[in-house]
Amino acid sequence: MAKMNSTEDEHLVGTYQRFPIKIVRGSGASVFDDAGKEYIDLSGGYGVAIVGHANPDVARAIAEQASKLVTCHSSLYNDVREEYLNELATILPEGLTKVYLCNSGAEANEAAIKFARKATGRREIVAFTGSYHGKTYGALSATWNQKYKKPFEPLLEGFKFAQFGNLEKTSELVSENTAAIIVEPIQGESGIHLPPEGFLAGLRGLSESRKALLIFDEVQSGFGRTGKVWACENWNVAPDIMTASKGIAGGVPFGFTAIKESIASVLKPGEHTSTFGGNPLACAAALAALRYLIRSDVLARSAQNGEYLMERLEKLRSKHPGLVREVRGKGLMVAMELKIPVKDVITRGFDQQLILLYAGLNIVRFLPPLVISRDQLDLVVQKLDAILTSIESEAHVASVAEKIRAEV
Ligand SMILES: Cc1ncc(COP(=O)(O)O)c(C=O)c1O
Repeated sequence: MAKMNSTEDEHLVGTYQRFPIKIVRGSGASVFDDAGKEYIDLSGGYGVAIVGHANPDVARAIAEQASKLVTCHSSLYNDVREEYLNELATILPEGLTKVYLCNSGAEANEAAIKFARKATGRREIVAFTGSYHGKTYGALSATWNQKYKKPFEPLLEGFKFAQFGNLEKTSELVSENTAAIIVEPIQGESGIHLPPEGFLAGLRGLSESRKALLIFDEVQSGFGRTGKVWACENWNVAPDIMTASKGIAGGVPFGFTAIKESIASVLKPGEHTSTFGGNPLACAAALAALRYLIRSDVLARSAQNGEYLMERLEKLRSKHPGLVREVRGKGLMVAMELKIPVKDVITRGFDQQLILLYAGLNIVRFLPPLVISRDQLDLVVQKLDAILTSIESEAHVASVAEKIRAEV
């Protein structure tokens, strides 16, 4: 790939894995670089662009609100926030009647952990192997990957990890000291891992019998990603606390922690607040994104196009059995696990005008905008086929060359 012509690296901290393309605009499931070249965005800005890049409804709502009122602290009432909260209430899982508004996924999880500790008077949190909840101290303490944690120790005390999907092992860790079990209904960052049948319902039962709270982190899996508004609806299980962020405001930073009345009733003014949480600009964007999700056909499309993408990727797996191990997912939250390092595929993706997202060392993760079309998905699979074919043929040439060298 070409070297990047940008001064960003002179100023920006080096904590991001970076790729040399400069994106200047987006439309639907596509983004465009500074030379006007179009890329299909399979990463959706890490799962944020759910209602599409530059969604016209969201763009209009932001523009109108920006010229009216951008900031209004939640200590004052606001018309747009009220409208958003009223509409949000109609789509939250059963029993979640109060929300705390914030600005990111990690912040939503911080609030969830704090609220659970306060409401139960207990300290321990049970999380899972493979989990990802964000990089602030509380959220990071509930995150599994040591790579993110080690450099910043000590983390918070009282976090235990059970094997994701193993109810028996989880049961061993949940005690009278457990404030909450925190789980992603579908694990995202570690490579799209679906819960085994009965796991989420089992956690629900466990949390009830031990009087611990159940937190669903729907930051990546929620807001239509899996073909239902919340991924937990796929298994008919409702939590006591649910967190959401990523695409809920069409790309404007936003997050929320939805809780039961019984939890809200222990929280007092001043105990947990945010300057920007619930600001009118973000609420206007969130209201437009929510209405678009509910009133357009994207939810149904997410389910159908997800099935379609997985069928097509499964065919690629049959065609390239030496390179592709497994295809899995729900709706448009899909993984293609490889038998080779993923980096090469991601890099070649840019050359093919695809923005691909990785998970771990060998997984391609698909989190495209839900507005992606069948034609675009066909093109994606066609290009992935070309990438895998080129890797195969290069490996073949290399092994023949190796053989010849060994013979002479
Ligand atoms: C499940 C989950 N929770 C929390 C987060 C953290 O969100 P943020 O990066 O907005 O803090 C992420 C981000 O990828 C996530 O996937």
